[in-house]
Amino acid sequence: MNVDGTPYRTIWLAEDGWAVEIIDQTRLPHAFVTRRLETLEDAARAITDMQVRGAPLIGATAAYGMALAMHADASDGSLGHAYDTLLGTRPTAVNLRWALDGMRETLATLSANTRAGSAYAAAVRVCDEDVDICSAIGDHGLGLIRDIHDTKEESETVNVLTHCNAGWLATVDWGTALAPIYKAHDAGIPVHVWVDETRPRNQGASLTAWELGQHGVPHTLIVDNAGGHLMQHGKVDLCITGTDRTTASGDVCNKIGTYLKALAADDTGVPFYVALPSPTIDWTLDDGVRDIPIEERDGAEVTRMSGRTGDGSVTSVAIAPDDCPAANYAFDVTPARLVSGLITERGVCAATREGLSNLFSDDKAVTT
Ligand code: MRU
Repeated sequence: MNVDGTPYRTIWLAEDGWAVEIIDQTRLPHAFVTRRLETLEDAARAITDMQVRGAPLIGATAAYGMALAMHADASDGSLGHAYDTLLGTRPTAVNLRWALDGMRETLATLSANTRAGSAYAAAVRVCDEDVDICSAIGDHGLGLIRDIHDTKEESETVNVLTHCNAGWLATVDWGTALAPIYKAHDAGIPVHVWVDETRPRNQGASLTAWELGQHGVPHTLIVDNAGGHLMQHGKVDLCITGTDRTTASGDVCNKIGTYLKALAADDTGVPFYVALPSPTIDWTLDDGVRDIPIEERDGAEVTRMSGRTGDGSVTSVAIAPDDCPAANYAFDVTPARLVSGLITERGVCAATREGLSNLFSDDKAVTT
C-alpha cells in the first residue's frame, strides 16, 4: 500500500541483500520510521516490542529472523537456538509457529553452507505468499460488502466496524479484515469504517486510522465501548475483524474486546465476519476458550497512555493512581457460534469444522 504516495510493504530485504527493513509501528501515527534488522536478536526484539505486530507479519518477521541467524551462523546449534528464541517472542499468534516450523523443515536437511541462501529464499516466499493470500481474502470479502451494498441505494454507504489493526500493517500487504474494505473502496463502493480505538495499545487509533487515511477510505474513530450502541441504532452493516489463532472448529482468538463486539453483533443481528489466512488456523486445537494461550502484557500499558503533546513531542502519561494494580490480557476468544462466517483465501465458509475442512482438507490434517 502507499505511504504518502510511495508503495511500501511492512517488511522487505534491504538493498545489501542480507539485512531486513521494517516499518517501526511503535512510532505511528506520529512518525513514519523504518528500521534495519541485522541479527536474530534484532528480529526477536522487533516482535517482542511490537515494532512489528499482527499475526501474519509476526510470522514473516520470524522467517526473516531465521534467515538472519543463518547468515551469521548456519550450524545446527544456531538453527535450534533461532527457532527457540523466535518462538518465545509472543505466545498467541499461531502464524509464528507455522512460519518457524516451515523454515526449520526447509533448513534442517540442508548442509550448512547452503542454509543461508535457502533461508532468505524461503522468507521471501513466506512474504510473497502472504501478499497473495491477503489479496484473495480481499476479493472474497469484497463479495460480502457488494451484497450488502446491492440491498441499498447506489449512493448509500456500507458501514463496517473493525477492531484492532488487521490491515496491511498487520500483514505484509493488503491486510486481512481491511483487505475487503480496500477492494470495495477501490471498486467504487461507498464504504465507511468505524474504527475501535483498541485499548490499551490503541492499534485502532494509531494504526488502522492511519492506514485508512493514507488510502483515502472514510472512517471514524470510536471508543471501544461504542460499538454496541452503534449496532443497536442500525449504524453498522457488518463487522469484520482479524484473528491471531483460529481453532479447527472455528473459534477465533483476536485482540481483547473482539468477543464483546461479537456478542453485541449477535444481539442486534449484525453479521460478524472474521478474515484469516490459512496459516492462522491451528488444526491441533478444538476448544479456543480452553486451549489458546492468551498473552498477558505489562500492566503499565493499561495504567499509562502515550500521545503527542501540543509541542509535537510524544510522551507517556499516567492515567491511574500510582501503583494501581492492572491486568493486561491482550486477546480473547470468540466462540464459533457468534461468527457469521470466515473469510479465507479460498472463499467464505461457516465457522465450523466442516466449513474449514471443506476448504482446506487437501493440505491440512484435521484432528478429531
Ligand atoms: O497485539 P497485536 O497488535 O499483534 O494484535 C493484532 C491483532 O489482534 C490482529 O487483529 C490480528 O493479528 C489479526 S492481523 C491480520
